[in-house]
Amino acid sequence: PPYTIGVICGSIAASSINRRLARALIKLAPDALQCSFIEIDQLALYDRDRDDAYPPEAIELKRAIGEADGILIVTPEYNRSIPGALKNAIDWASRPYGDNALNRKPVGIIGTSPGAIGTAVGQQHLKTIMSFCNAPMMNEIEAYVQYKDGLVDDDDNVTVESTKEFLSTYMASFDDFVRRVLTVLPKADG
Ligand code: FNR
Repeated sequence: PPYTIGVICGSIAASSINRRLARALIKLAPDALQCSFIEIDQLALYDRDRDDAYPPEAIELKRAIGEADGILIVTPEYNRSIPGALKNAIDWASRPYGDNALNRKPVGIIGTSPGAIGTAVGQQHLKTIMSFCNAPMMNEIEAYVQYKDGLVDDDDNVTVESTKEFLSTYMASFDDFVRRVLTVLPKADG
């Protein structure tokens, strides 16, 4: 069957290279994956005093994550960790206690940076956070993409053939991963 994938970009910058990468990944995804963005830029700062009265943007975030079969997080590394905007979204998604939208949700993590180790440290931080949220993560394959000008063109095409092939393989693996996780952890159990 087709699977719905919520794509979260960790950067809220309109000019984000990670959003560019995300759009390219959506284009390279197998037909069985129906990908759409889940936006995090309208969320207020998480406040546990609002656990009993979630704001509409946070309710919508949880609904979108809950309905998706899998989540793909495409994120930059900020100061060797993840952007605050992404951590904030995860905090909203994970609460109130006992109603964690990320519980058992298959997750893929990928990112790009101009730096040579292309988000590797930030991704490790994200894995620690998502482990606590009980989200099964695709550990193989990993993808650390060093961004060079023009890597993704304005039509969301990857211009370097070897990178394009690698990213296609990444999305095929993610499709396979989501399929396998849902076999043992059906969504209704979430
Ligand atoms: C960065 N950048 C960065 N790059 C990196 O490889 N490791 C890092 O720790 C950081 N730290 C960092 C902190 C902050 C606050 C900013 C704004 C930037 C550079 C970063 O990779 C670059 O700006 C990317 O373009 C950010 O991704 P988006 O927003 O374009 O998707």
